[in-house]
Amino acid sequence: MLTAYDAPTATLLEEAGVDIALVGDSVGNVTLGYETTLPVTIDEMASHVGAVARTTEETLVVADLPFLSYGVDDATSINNAGRMLKEEGAGAVKLESGPHTVSLTKQMTELGIPVMAHLGLTPQHVNRYGGYPRQGTEQDEAEKILDLARAHEEAGAFSLVLEHVPSNLAADVTAALEIPTIGIGAGPHCDGQVLVFNDAVGLSEWTPSFSKQFGDVRGEMQRAVDSYVEAVASEAFPADEHAHEEGGLEDFY
Ligand code: KIV
Repeated sequence: MLTAYDAPTATLLEEAGVDIALVGDSVGNVTLGYETTLPVTIDEMASHVGAVARTTEETLVVADLPFLSYGVDDATSINNAGRMLKEEGAGAVKLESGPHTVSLTKQMTELGIPVMAHLGLTPQHVNRYGGYPRQGTEQDEAEKILDLARAHEEAGAFSLVLEHVPSNLAADVTAALEIPTIGIGAGPHCDGQVLVFNDAVGLSEWTPSFSKQFGDVRGEMQRAVDSYVEAVASEAFPADEHAHEEGGLEDFY
């Protein structure tokens, strides 16, 4: 799984055979210029989910539900999740999970909205954590994560993202569940892995320590922009082949 926020990226993922395109609310930090994911609205998510879903056929598109678009009341949560499937073409939604999302996961699943759960570091809780610390490092916290993973599987979640937790905890959760776990900063023992696209291809200015840059897209884009600026300044662009003159037009000057 990789995140995708737009049509060209979605096409790349599909061509590479990535199983799942997650339209993460990380779009807030990565693309929309917000400092956290909290300001992302359901309308902003809908626009990005639609772009990804319209340009993929084989890839499962999972729509992340943004902060407070779920969990406040059930009807609003279900309408927002349903909109991602009915109007935007997603195949499933992801909820940052906790004790408060167990019954919601059950209701959504029963209504036909497949739910991907998300435990460990849940960035929508940045203000409670005071940052983005590793989770599940204490025994009682690790046990809570395992219990919640079981509860979400029981409630019908079809997969579980585990973020920024010790790899031995991720291994135990993976062994305890039938549904696939997908790790980010959770070591090698999960059933699948996910990264933020911009981090993975080397487009982000900063990446978390658990991420890896598999390319230098930022460098390549910078080189392209530099050469464009240089070519326009030196009048090397546009050249004759990039323009045409129309015979028969009067000269105005
Ligand atoms: O929003 C997101 O991109 C995510 C992934 C990092 C799992 O939730």
